[in-house]
Amino acid sequence: MKIAVLGGDGIGPEVTAQAVKVLRALASRGLSFELTECLVGGAAYDQTGHPLPAQTLAAVQRADAVLFGAEGGFQYETLPRGLRPGDALLTLRKALDLFANYRPVVAFRELAGASSFKREVVEGLDLLIVRELTSDLYFGEPRGIVTENGRRVGINTMRYTEDEIARVVRAGFEAARRRQRKLCSVDKANVLESMELWRAVTEEVARDYPDVALTHLYVDAAAMALARNPGQFDVIVTGNLFGDILSDEASMLTGSIGMLPSASVNAQGKGLYEPVHGCAPDIAGKDIANPLGSILSAAMMLRDSAGQPEAAARVEDAVRRVLADGLRTADIHEPGCTLAGTAAMGDAVVAALLDH
Ligand code: NAD
Ligand code: IPM
Ligand code: MN
Repeated sequence: MKIAVLGGDGIGPEVTAQAVKVLRALASRGLSFELTECLVGGAAYDQTGHPLPAQTLAAVQRADAVLFGAEGGFQYETLPRGLRPGDALLTLRKALDLFANYRPVVAFRELAGASSFKREVVEGLDLLIVRELTSDLYFGEPRGIVTENGRRVGINTMRYTEDEIARVVRAGFEAARRRQRKLCSVDKANVLESMELWRAVTEEVARDYPDVALTHLYVDAAAMALARNPGQFDVIVTGNLFGDILSDEASMLTGSIGMLPSASVNAQGKGLYEPVHGCAPDIAGKDIANPLGSILSAAMMLRDSAGQPEAAARVEDAVRRVLADGLRTADIHEPGCTLAGTAAMGDAVVAALLDH
C-alpha cells in the first residue's frame, strides 16, 4: 500500500511523525507500506513558492491513501488566494473529489474528567459527524471582494446541487446502517434555499433507508443539542461549513480537539486521513501537541483504505491502554496523571502496540 505523507505546518509534522511511527511498528509486524513524504502548505510555499507543488499532487494521485497533518500559519494569511496554505488542502479535497468527511467523536472513558462538560454528559459518547467536503460556501461562485459604489463588498455563495446533497446524505445513511441506525440531518432550511433543497433531497434519499430513523435539526438548535445532550446522536450529516463548526464544538466533548481523527473519501474509496485540528501555531515546536488525533486517523486509514480492520482495532486499543495507564499530553492532563510530550505519547502507543 502506497501512502503519501503530508505533514505540513506547525504541529502537523510533529503529530504526523507519531502516526508514522505507529505505521512503521505495524510494518515491523508484517504489514507492508510504502511511505512517501511530500511538502505541503506553508512549508511547501517557503521551499517551492507554491503550497501544493506539482510533485506533491502527483504523489498524492499515485498513492492509495494520504496521511495529512495540518497547514496554515499567520505569516501566510496575507498571500493571494491560491498561494495560502489552506488552499492546498481545499484543492486536494476538490481534485480528489473527497466529498464525504467522516469525523468520529468518541469520548474515551478515561478522559471524561478532562472534558469541560460534565462527566454524565460525555460518558460513553460515540457519535459520527459526516461532513460534506467539496461544495457549499467553500467553493460556490460568485465569490470575492469587489467594489460597488466606492465601497468593498465581500461575497460568497452557498450552493448545492441535488447530486452533491444526495451522495453525502447517502454516505450518512450507510454509516448509520453500520451503527445505531439513527441519522440526524443538520441544515438551515428555515432561512436558506440551498438548505431547503438539502432537506428535500434528504427526504427523497430516506425512502431507500426505511430501516434508519431520520430526524432534522436546524444548525443553531443542533449546536445547542450537542452541548446539552450529545448522547441523543448517532450519525449527523451536514454541509461543509456547518460540519466544520459543529465538529470543533463536538471535539470538546472528548476532552480536546487533539483527540479527533477524520477520513475524507471519494466515490472510488480513496481517502485522505487527517486530525480535525489545525497547525496550532501557539503550541508548535514545543513537543506538547496531542498526537492521538493523527494516530487515530492512521487507524481509520488502516480500516477504510488498507482493508486491515484488525490492525486498526489494535491501534485504537493501544491508544486506550496508554490512556488507561494515565499518560496524558497537556491538553487532556488531569491531576494524578503522567504528563507526556508529543513524541513520548507516540512512543507509548507504539510500545503498547508491540506489547500486545
Ligand atoms: P487550531 O486547531 O490550529 O488550534 C485551535 C486551538 O486548539 C489552539 O489553542 C491549539 O493550541 C489547540 N490545539 C489544536 N490541535 C491541538 C493538539 N493536537 N494538541 C493540543 N492542542 C491543540 O485552529 P486555529 O488556531 O483556528 O488555526 C490555526 C491555523 O491552522 C490557521 O492557519 C488555520 O487556517 C489552520 N487550520 C488548518 C487545519 C487543517 O490543516 N486541516 C484545520 C484548522 C485550522
Ligand atoms: C478543517 C479546517 C479546514 C476547513 C481549513 C483549514 C480549510 O478547518 O479541516 O476543519 O475549514 O475545512
Ligand atoms: Mn475546521
